[in-house]
Amino acid sequence: MYRAAIEAKRLGFKKISVIEFGVAGGNGLIFMENVSLLIKKHTGIEINCYGFDLVKGLPEPANYKDLPHIWKKGFYKMDEAALRKKIKKSKLILGDVKKTIPEFNKKEIAPIGFITFDLDFYSSTKEAFQIFKNKSILPRTFLYFDDIIGTEEEDFNEYVGELLAINEYNSKEDNKKITKIAGLRYKRHIPAQWNEQIYIHNDFHNKLYNQYIYEKKERQNVLKRTK
Ligand SMILES: C[S@@+](CC[C@H](N)C(=O)[O-])C[C@H]1O[C@@H](n2cnc3c(N)ncnc32)[C@H](O)[C@@H]1O
Repeated sequence: MYRAAIEAKRLGFKKISVIEFGVAGGNGLIFMENVSLLIKKHTGIEINCYGFDLVKGLPEPANYKDLPHIWKKGFYKMDEAALRKKIKKSKLILGDVKKTIPEFNKKEIAPIGFITFDLDFYSSTKEAFQIFKNKSILPRTFLYFDDIIGTEEEDFNEYVGELLAINEYNSKEDNKKITKIAGLRYKRHIPAQWNEQIYIHNDFHNKLYNQYIYEKKERQNVLKRTK
């Protein structure tokens, strides 16, 4: 979210949108809200938070790609009343993402800068990728995929779940790609598991994709004087 705010600022935006797909109890969304306030303090960028969820928990897994050996219908129900009491400013968008995203994409929103995907299933994640059709999106949108590294029983691979949805999206789209940040863990002071779960959605034909955003206006390596 911080990187998204910095990117937005360098591109001249004052606001961004951040999204969680799969809210359930709401711990992730509340965390995003709190972090958004800190980021606003540091960067001046206003952050609007949106949470998408079905309320009644996971739907029926469609087939093996939705990993029914670890998830069942009805897992992770939302206590909507309890969550609404805790939310300060996030907007909940309730219903199946298959239907709610096309409606959401018709609204005027600040450019989407960060998305966390935690819908568990291949089928739901594939539908959630409709968000990339939204016209208001940063050229590089930061993504977190929750179900790429799992518990002992959750042996995810590229033929099921979120990894399959990512691979199919990249095969289908010519001008948009979901990519890892090469060597992210080496850029962190404290390397951690989540470094492997961060991706970027590259919208190569976005009119701002080529706009220079590096902190320094000039980049030269001057030959050092030696005796
Ligand atoms: C693992 S939970 C999310 C946990 C949450 N991120 C947290 O921080 O606690 C997965 C959620 O995805 C939602 N979900 C799965 N498929 C969906 C779909 N097609 N449309 C909307 N929500 C869906 C379920 O309702 C469930 O609440």
